[in-house]
Amino acid sequence: MQDFEKLGQFYLGRHYDLQHNRPTDDLLLYDSRDLVTHALCVGMTGSGKTGLCLALIEEAAIDGVPCLVIDPKGDLANLLLTFPNLAPEDFAPWVNEDDARRNGQSVEQFAADQAALWKKGLASWGQDGARIARLRNAAEFTIYTPGSTAGVPLSILKSFAAPPGAIVSDSELLRDRIQTTATSLLGLAGVETDPIKSREHILLSTILQSAWTAKRDLSLADIIQQIQTPPVTRVGVMDLDAFFPSKDRFALAMALNSLLAAPGFDVWMQGDELDIDRMLHTADGKPRVSICSIAHLGDAERMFFVSVLLNQTVGWMRSQPGTTSLRAIVYMDEIAGYFPPVANPASKGPLLTLLKQARAFGVGVVLSTQNPVDLDYKGLANCGTWFLGRLQTERDKARVLDGLEGAATTSGHPFDRQAMEQTLAGLASRIFVMNNVHDDAPSVFESRWALSYLRGPLGRNEIRRLTSATPAAQVVDATVATAPRAAAATSAAPATGRQPVLPAGVSQYFLPVRTTGGTLTYQPMVYGAAQARCVEAKLKIDAPLEVTVATPIVPGPVPVDWNAATPIDIGAADLEQAPAAGIGFADLPANAVTAKSIAAWSKDFTTWIYGNQTVEVFKASASGAASQPGESERDFRIRMQHGTRELRDAAVDQLRKKYAPKSAAVQERMRRAEQAVGREEEQAKAQTLQTAISFGTTLLGAFMGRKAISATTLGRATTAARGVGRTLKETQDIGRAKETVEALQQQLTQLDEELRAEIAAIEARFEAASEPLETVVCKPKKSTITVQLVALVWAPHAVGPDGKSAPAW
Ligand SMILES: Nc1ncnc2c1ncn2[C@@H]1O[C@H](COP(=O)(O)OP(=O)(O)O)[C@@H](O)[C@H]1O
Ligand SMILES: [Mg+2]
Repeated sequence: MQDFEKLGQFYLGRHYDLQHNRPTDDLLLYDSRDLVTHALCVGMTGSGKTGLCLALIEEAAIDGVPCLVIDPKGDLANLLLTFPNLAPEDFAPWVNEDDARRNGQSVEQFAADQAALWKKGLASWGQDGARIARLRNAAEFTIYTPGSTAGVPLSILKSFAAPPGAIVSDSELLRDRIQTTATSLLGLAGVETDPIKSREHILLSTILQSAWTAKRDLSLADIIQQIQTPPVTRVGVMDLDAFFPSKDRFALAMALNSLLAAPGFDVWMQGDELDIDRMLHTADGKPRVSICSIAHLGDAERMFFVSVLLNQTVGWMRSQPGTTSLRAIVYMDEIAGYFPPVANPASKGPLLTLLKQARAFGVGVVLSTQNPVDLDYKGLANCGTWFLGRLQTERDKARVLDGLEGAATTSGHPFDRQAMEQTLAGLASRIFVMNNVHDDAPSVFESRWALSYLRGPLGRNEIRRLTSATPAAQVVDATVATAPRAAAATSAAPATGRQPVLPAGVSQYFLPVRTTGGTLTYQPMVYGAAQARCVEAKLKIDAPLEVTVATPIVPGPVPVDWNAATPIDIGAADLEQAPAAGIGFADLPANAVTAKSIAAWSKDFTTWIYGNQTVEVFKASASGAASQPGESERDFRIRMQHGTRELRDAAVDQLRKKYAPKSAAVQERMRRAEQAVGREEEQAKAQTLQTAISFGTTLLGAFMGRKAISATTLGRATTAARGVGRTLKETQDIGRAKETVEALQQQLTQLDEELRAEIAAIEARFEAASEPLETVVCKPKKSTITVQLVALVWAPHAVGPDGKSAPAW
């Protein structure tokens, strides 16, 4: 198992022999990339769905894939119960006291038994405390409790903020976002309406639409206010007041207002921002597993939160670059009611969007339910992997079989309904059928033992205890670094008020006024804008540098000193040609500004840029990758992690391709050899032979899995194998056949060794990519400095009562 730890192969369990009702030694490894076509886990209560999906999340976390988890029942909070020492005293605070009592044990006795059970269970699946430690270190685990302070509360304020550009510019996505927001908000306020046709819904949608298309954020208070005084006078062709009289609008405003006023509602405004990017990675770029526990909420609140979270996820996803590797997982346990076939709750739209589009962005959606009849059919068709556990009713079975049959027809795979029906009927708990469109055939397997202690649902008090026992998540600092402004860049020169007359050939511009209040004065500065490239050929760095600054013009022998320059965020194109009305002008130092002096300042500007301006680039020493301009260390790290994953996945593909013919040939030869022996000897001996060499238990077998191998590769392999088969048939010699078996066994061992070495090499190569980053400070190359503009600008300053002036642009 260790051999796959870092290859993106998720260890989910072992293949299971249904005929003899026993587990085999063959590992079930799931290629993480298969998850980008999403997965669905179906089974009756107690069939082991949550245990399986939790194991999948553990695997993802170990591999550095962040997860967003929606947990309606409280079971997923168990992901925080990880005890590398497997010591009874670690379990004791978290065991279920009722279970202990039922067992007639003290909490201590029960905890000791549970610890022993976990140790033994893990060992039987080839796992230990070290793997638990690896899980704990690989990611940061947080339980969020929206609307409650038991875990980390989540602020939903941002959900009425204008969605990112990628959504606003896509009319379909924007419409979806507006409709689900309106639906969920009305649901939360208890306004029972037809979600699409009601006037409440239409008005709310209109308010959201007009704000968001103008990129304006809204708060709940804004929305309430705008319901009373809407931003429009007509709705469609109707006059607003005829369509929705103000008296009735007031009632809607009141309904939303009482939400705001309700005791406890303020908690919805506290805590971490509901920001998917931050929920997936820490401030340092470490992956996170963010569990949103919603068991404590009422139905309307749950629906509201789930749809808001899913909407935000769609928005985040759309801002990610395309990929074929797994970037993140969104898991929802027990989705019954959130994704129904006929009704249209607020959660359905964004879930469907995720299932249809997330693949291109590497976001894998995993859904689990005990009730397959309650699932939207279109959604099911978008799930590439089905984990089918024990089912309770015939209706559930029929529904699942229908779905599988549909999927088989679409993908062109053969499907034996009767055989599948029989298989499903024989499943015990924790035994699943995996139907993966990327595989040749379905697999039956038993889910592996969970690393986390599956203690059962955690209540509010336990979540509170658990959250205070866990170090707080390091959340990204919300303050955005802004260019420091020149505080009192100039001493307040007395303003004559009149615009000075300039010598011929000197142009002047005006910085736009951005602050109001105080007495404003225009003061003279020199504005400089230039571009350059910072090139470090040896380090393969070629980063753009943009300089936009202004420096005051002062009386005296050196009127302009670029060392006193302040960065400003106004591009040359945004300078104004005429002054704003009613602002006086400071004096221009005598004779300072001439065409000649400006030319000299322009030259000085170039020299100053060369000597003083730099760009900081983060560089990964192993891969040689460098950060992009303006990219923070955190974002660079996250991008690198994913880039490494893409490279590694490609290397794994290569390896699989390389071993496919070898693996197919050796399998075919084994089959022939066994046949030959079996023909001549009695059944029993052949049986021993089969157990003596089993392809599945080899590293090669586990690595190749049941992956559909391309037809050409297979074709080549079988032709080779057929040749072998013919020779065997011709000789008909048992002795030879036995010898061949031994030779095959040897060949297999050798192939395994080879593969092991190659896997180790891949691991070593990508392990190196997590080396610390270097910060490279790059100077601009002189020949690349291009001055766009150096000119006199009048910069508005506000003069305070103390006579000091401050920038007002
Ligand atoms: N992977 C696993 N490792 C250890 N125990 C498990 C695992 N999966 C299930 N179990 C046991 O079976 C019980 C029921 O499984 P669970 O996953 O909660 O079922 P479901 O979600 O289908 O209702 C769990 O409480 C746990 O005791
Ligand atoms: Mg469950």
